[in-house]
Amino acid sequence: MILPGKQNLADYRNENWRPPLLPYNWSGQKLLNPIRKFFDLQIGSLWQDMKIILPTIKGRVLDVGCGSQPFRVLFNKETEYNSIDTSDAEVKFGYKMPGTIYYSGENWPVADESMDAVLCTEVLEHVIDTDSFLKQANRCLKNHGQLVLSVPFAARWHFIPHDYWRFTPSGLSHLLNKARFTDIQIYARGNKLTVACYKTMALILQLLMPQKVNHIMKFIYIILGLIFLPLFLLSAILANLSLLFKGGDDCLGYTVLAEKNNQ
Ligand SMILES: C[S@@+](CC[C@H](N)C(=O)[O-])C[C@H]1O[C@@H](n2cnc3c(N)ncnc32)[C@H](O)[C@@H]1O
Repeated sequence: MILPGKQNLADYRNENWRPPLLPYNWSGQKLLNPIRKFFDLQIGSLWQDMKIILPTIKGRVLDVGCGSQPFRVLFNKETEYNSIDTSDAEVKFGYKMPGTIYYSGENWPVADESMDAVLCTEVLEHVIDTDSFLKQANRCLKNHGQLVLSVPFAARWHFIPHDYWRFTPSGLSHLLNKARFTDIQIYARGNKLTVACYKTMALILQLLMPQKVNHIMKFIYIILGLIFLPLFLLSAILANLSLLFKGGDDCLGYTVLAEKNNQ
């Protein structure tokens, strides 16, 4: 039986639109980053949290699934920054960073109890075996070491098909408890208004930056995008203002803190 008028996504592999991957260390960084954080609310809201958390971390830190290492600049100069990523990073996600160790399999190439903190931003939704992944994070941390994690919640299916999960605070608590983390804190990034504005902006952005359509459709999309540009800008302003208010049960994603405690 098939559902009429609907598409079966079980074997879907085609991503019709993907925001451009911008390296963070490109020469226009100083100008581009504030603009990107204002319009890309996932990064903007995450940056607001990381700006508070990361400068407080001391010692050795491991950035797992580091991608283009967007938050590295927030660590203190005294912090020893280490990065690892999956060997699939370049082919499946488009990332390759010098100095990063690329590994395959489930075991991270990091010694037991060697890190003061593990940073893992927007990675867990791409990991099939989250239990084993979080156990590795726990293994690499020293006693009382800190896990800093973030996951998206209201985000489109991205890097298709390598995007497997969305997590709720209840699910995150369950997974972290199972991996023997304690002192779990989970903070929402944004609220209903942020999400509504974010989705409005995403629709208009796909008109302004059309991908995988012919020239005529591209032209029509861009004209439509320009008509809706004022709504795009208004949504961006409202969304950024909404981040000043409390996170809600509908949000862009979660920022999570947890501790390893051997007792
Ligand atoms: C959306 S990107 C996030 C990159 C970066 N952490 C950030 O916040 O921009 C997802 C990252 O997860 C990495 N990744 C996916 N599966 C992984 C795994 N099993 N182990 C480690 N990294 C993984 C990808 O290679 C990619 O760098």
